[in-house]
Amino acid sequence: MTAGLSGKPDSPESRLDRFRAYTVAHPRLVEAKETLMNAIRGAEPNSLIFVFGPTGVGKTTLRLKIEQLIAAELLSELREDLTRIPVVSVEAVAPESGSFNWRDHYTRLLHQLDEPLIDRKLNRQVDGAFAGPTMRFMPTSRAVGTEYRYAVEQAIRYRRPVAVMIDEAQHLGKISSGRRLLDQLDVIKSIANQTKTVHVLFGTYDLLAFRNLNGQLSRRSIDVHLARYRAEDSEDRQTFINVVQSFEKELPFEEPSHLVHDWEFLYERSLGCVGILKEWLVRAATVASRKGSHKLMRAVVESQALCLAQCEQLHRETTDGELKLSERHGSNAVSREAGLEHPRNRESTPDTASPSDQAPETGTASSDT
Ligand SMILES: Nc1ncnc2c1ncn2[C@@H]1O[C@H](COP(=O)(O)OP(=O)(O)O)[C@@H](O)[C@H]1O
Ligand SMILES: [Mg+2]
Repeated sequence: MTAGLSGKPDSPESRLDRFRAYTVAHPRLVEAKETLMNAIRGAEPNSLIFVFGPTGVGKTTLRLKIEQLIAAELLSELREDLTRIPVVSVEAVAPESGSFNWRDHYTRLLHQLDEPLIDRKLNRQVDGAFAGPTMRFMPTSRAVGTEYRYAVEQAIRYRRPVAVMIDEAQHLGKISSGRRLLDQLDVIKSIANQTKTVHVLFGTYDLLAFRNLNGQLSRRSIDVHLARYRAEDSEDRQTFINVVQSFEKELPFEEPSHLVHDWEFLYERSLGCVGILKEWLVRAATVASRKGSHKLMRAVVESQALCLAQCEQLHRETTDGELKLSERHGSNAVSREAGLEHPRNRESTPDTASPSDQAPETGTASSDT
């Protein structure tokens, strides 16, 4: 029986919550985190950075980690300068019908930029040396698109985030037939230019459609590839098994569950994507916990797996994306040689993480990611 901080036995719910919150610092995630942090630190202020990978590989997890790291690095400055915020993150929302809705996107950005606690922070300073006015950038309800965009640019200049992050950025590519993809990206490019702020676009391989739309963009952008583990590569296979082992150790049950014996099944239905695997195990652990089980039985794991049709669909999307990426690398040897893309993130080069990267059998907790 595990014990909580109070020394009392943990309730099944709190053990389950701990499992839900557990993040495994697997080599691809750690490497993508380092590559992305270096890219953000070293990029020209108006650059675009693209982070792509399959659904459920851990892109949003990476984004959240980067946000934490940037906030931690900036902590003392943020204490001094109360108008500054470390990063701005929004999700590009898929349009219900027709084209990507820019106005809705700008509104979301403005809400993020207008940090909710800023008033309180500023008020606390009224007695002190600094008591500047709070700036508001929200346009009136009758404002047109360009006014929203101008408000966004003003707010970014005022809040000075280290980066603007757009998650699910592949949705920017949802446009009606008359529009050009390049126009969509030009909007982001131009905001990055006007505000001299790095923009990071996270998305599925559909994001690749945006890459190399023109030479100017190629010059100003950096790629980070967060790839899945591939069972056909022996090193990837071992790393995937290590990840399974890490999750197994963290399962909220008293008796061991021997997940590693079933790693091939776990691989098949997660396609080597750590996030898909984690969500699946969380579903299975929740069911087993509700039943009062002392271990995670194979039957429960099976019952919570993605169905074969879902896996086949995900597999098609992923292999299509991986193929497009390798084709692009084939035709873009110049940027590869210039070191703009990290060698290990290239599809053409299998991941060659050294054993030392895989700290305790890959399984270090979230604080280490
Ligand atoms: N390294 C990891 N360790 C534990 N859980 C993870 C890890 N990576 C992703 N997850 C979990 O898997 C789910 C899907 O991951 P997410 O980052 O949203 O993937 P993506 O954005 O690539 O689709 C989330 O619930 C997330 O918390
Ligand atoms: Mg995501």
